[in-house]
Amino acid sequence: MIAGLDPAKIPAHVAIIMDGNGRWAKARHLPRVMGHREGMKSVRAVIETARKVGVKVLTLYAFSKENWQRPKDEVSFLMKLLSEYLQKEVDELHEKDVQIRAIGEIELLPANVLELLKAAIEKTAKNQGLILNLALSYGGRAEIAQAARLIAQAVLKGELKPSEIDEALFARFLYTKDLPDPDLLIRTSGEMRLSNFLLYQTAYTELYFTETLWPDFREEEFIKALKDYQRRERRFGKISEQIHG
Ligand code: FPP
Repeated sequence: MIAGLDPAKIPAHVAIIMDGNGRWAKARHLPRVMGHREGMKSVRAVIETARKVGVKVLTLYAFSKENWQRPKDEVSFLMKLLSEYLQKEVDELHEKDVQIRAIGEIELLPANVLELLKAAIEKTAKNQGLILNLALSYGGRAEIAQAARLIAQAVLKGELKPSEIDEALFARFLYTKDLPDPDLLIRTSGEMRLSNFLLYQTAYTELYFTETLWPDFREEEFIKALKDYQRRERRFGKISEQIHG
């Protein structure tokens, strides 16, 4: 284990909003897309660190529903990066026992990307190591609305009674149905908002914001975030004395 990290307090689920690629590139007078390419190296670094310290689920906000509105060239580049990633790296992830999953309206992805993604999910489905959960074409409000729609349909069909709808049941209709809620959410690049990410699931998540831009967020920065998390007291609405007995 890494010095200064408490192995007993590793967050089971870490979610990351990978922000600041464009600004990283701009600061170097490079095209924005070069920031995304550099950001891929951070993706590799955080996956490795997550495996090393024993994080069980790593959810990466790779492409939001709103990101479809970016300039066409940038969207195409991001799709190309994603397909390159899935083509080149899935075998290695598979060997490392990583289980790939996706959340979001993935059917909106270009056909070739969707095919590669589905193949990656299928190939790694039985792996027991890190769960790498990619949020793609993902929007938190859309996820909640579709859960409400599915629940309404189940009620109409008589499969469910309105009185049975509680928080736990609702969560079972979300994309993340069989995953724990994130313990820690990291957002890079100094922006302090959730940007429609995991709105239902982050009710009691610890939030960590850093000025560091995503392409500069590598192992050292990730460890810093984990150490910050370990210093926090999670009370879930209770008082300190109730937590410590
Ligand atoms: C935000 O930076 C970043 C994105 C919208 C894309 C992030 C995607 C990657 C790093 C590649 C993901 C691929 C895989 C396989 C996980 P920004 O462009 O909003 O930066 P800015 O706010 O500085 O403009």
